Amino acid sequence: MNEYMKNCDLAAIITALGGRQALQDLLDVGPSAISNYLARGELPQRAHAPVCEALRLRGYQVHPGSLEILGQTQLAGGTGPTTNFRSDRPAQRVLLIVGGGIAAYKALEVARRLQDHNVEVTGVMTTGAQQFITPLSLAALTASQVYTDLFSLTDEAEMGHIRLAREADLVIVAPATANLMARAANGLADDLATTILLATTAPVLMAPAMNPAMWQHPATAENVARLANRGIQFVGPTAGDMACGEDGVGRLAEPAAIVQAALNCLSADSQPDDLSGLHAIVTSGPTVEPIDSVRFIANRSSGKQGHAIASALAARGAEVTLVSGPVSLPAPANVRLVQVESATEMLAACEAALPADIAVCAAAVADWRVENASSGKLKKTGNGQPPSLTLVENPDILNSLSTHQLRPDLVIGFAAEASDLQDNARAKLARKGCDWIVANAVTRSDGSSVFNSDMNSASLITGETAIDWPMMTKAELAVRLVNHITDHMADRLQAATLRDLVSQSASNRT
Ligand code: C5P
Repeated sequence: MNEYMKNCDLAAIITALGGRQALQDLLDVGPSAISNYLARGELPQRAHAPVCEALRLRGYQVHPGSLEILGQTQLAGGTGPTTNFRSDRPAQRVLLIVGGGIAAYKALEVARRLQDHNVEVTGVMTTGAQQFITPLSLAALTASQVYTDLFSLTDEAEMGHIRLAREADLVIVAPATANLMARAANGLADDLATTILLATTAPVLMAPAMNPAMWQHPATAENVARLANRGIQFVGPTAGDMACGEDGVGRLAEPAAIVQAALNCLSADSQPDDLSGLHAIVTSGPTVEPIDSVRFIANRSSGKQGHAIASALAARGAEVTLVSGPVSLPAPANVRLVQVESATEMLAACEAALPADIAVCAAAVADWRVENASSGKLKKTGNGQPPSLTLVENPDILNSLSTHQLRPDLVIGFAAEASDLQDNARAKLARKGCDWIVANAVTRSDGSSVFNSDMNSASLITGETAIDWPMMTKAELAVRLVNHITDHMADRLQAATLRDLVSQSASNRT
C-alpha cells in the first residue's frame, strides 16, 4: 500500500523543480497523479528521496523530514538553481513612426503589443497623424515621450533627431501613407519622420495603408519598388472593406501581423532563441493527388497557418523543416523548405526529416488518392460514359509520425471540424496518437471559411485541457501555439536535466 507524506507544500516544490512536468517526469507519473497529490496536499513516501535530492541539486536547502524549502544557496559547478529557460535579453528598441492615415489608431495597438514581446517603443508622429490620434495617447501607451517636431529645441536638447534615428534597432512606419512613402523614396527630409528615415542605419519596416486606387497607382508602385530595392521591408496592405467605403487592397495589415513582421526583422536578437538546438517538422498546405498527368484532386488549403507556424518556430531558434504541398506563399525565412505534391510524397519527406523533437501537422492532407492514376491524359470515351475512378486511402502522416519509432517528443495535429469541434478533436487526438490537437471550425458563425483567410480562431486541446483562442491573425495564432510548444519543451528539458542530475548523484554515492 502507498504511504503518503502529509502537509508538504507541494506547490512550492513544483515551482522550485521547474513545473508540474518536471515532477511528473522525476516520479514517472502522469498529470492526473500530480493533480491528486495537489488536491490532497501530500506526496507518496517513495517520492521523498528523489524530490529531496532534486531540490538540493537545484541549490535549495530542504528540511529532510517535511521537504519544506528553507532557502536557496548558489552552488558551484553549474548545478545551482536553474537558469531561466527564456533568456533575459535587454529590451530592443523600436521607433514607431505613425503616418497620417485613418488607420493611425491601429498603431496604438501595434505599440501596445510590441511591448508584450520585451520591445521598447518610442513614438514619432507626422503632422497628419496628429489629426487622427494624439501624441498623448501614444505617449501613455509607450510610457515614453513622443516626438513630433524636427525643429523643437526641447526635443533636440533631450535627444537629437540623429540620435533618435541611430538608437533604434528597428524603425516601423505604420500606417505608411502614399505621401510618406513618396517622400522617403525620394530622400526628402522635410519633417522629423523623413529625416529619421534618411538618418537611420536600422532596418525599416513599412506597413502601407491607403485607398485601393492610390495603392495601385503606378507612382506608388514605383515608390514601393524603390524602397524595397533599398532593403525596406513591407507588411501588407491587405484586401477588404476600406474606411473610405471602397473595397480592395489597401487596408493596413492587422496589428498582430505587423508585430510578427517586426519580430521577424528583429528576430536574430529580439526573440529568445529558446528552441535553438531543437528540430521541428511542419507540414503545410494541401496535397495534390493526380488523376492523370494533367488533372488532380486537391483542397482549398492555402498553407497560411502552417507557414506561419514554421516561421514562428524558426524565429524562436528552432531548426525547421517545412514540408509543404503546392501553395503560392514565399518560403518563410530560415526554414528548410521541402516541396511535395501528394500525401505519399509528404509522408516520405517527413520520415526522411526525422529525427525531430517537434512535429506540427498543419497540412490538409487528402484522405484518398486515385488508384492507378494514368500517366497520360484520360480521353473522353465518346460513348458518353465518364471514366470510373477508384479511390484508395492515403497514408495518415500524423498517425505515422505519432507511432514512429523515431517519434518526435511533441506531435501536434490540426482538426478542421464542421461540428462538435472539441468532442471531435478529442476523439481525433486519441485516434491519431498525437499529443495535442489544434481544432478550428471549417465554417464560422458568419459563414466565412477558414481556408485562405488571414484570420483563424481555434481551441488547443491537450490531454487534459482545452484553451480557446479567439479570432486573430494566423500569424498571431502561430505565435501563441509556439509559446505553448516552448513552455512544454522547457519542462521536458528541465525534467531530463533533473533526472540526469539525480542519477549522476546516485551513481557518485555508490
Ligand atoms: O482526420 P483528419 O484528416 O481530419 O485529421 C487532420 C489532421 O491529420 C491534420 O493534422 C492533418 O495534417 C493530419 N493528416 C495527416 N495525414 C492524413 C490525413 C490527415 O497527417 N492522411
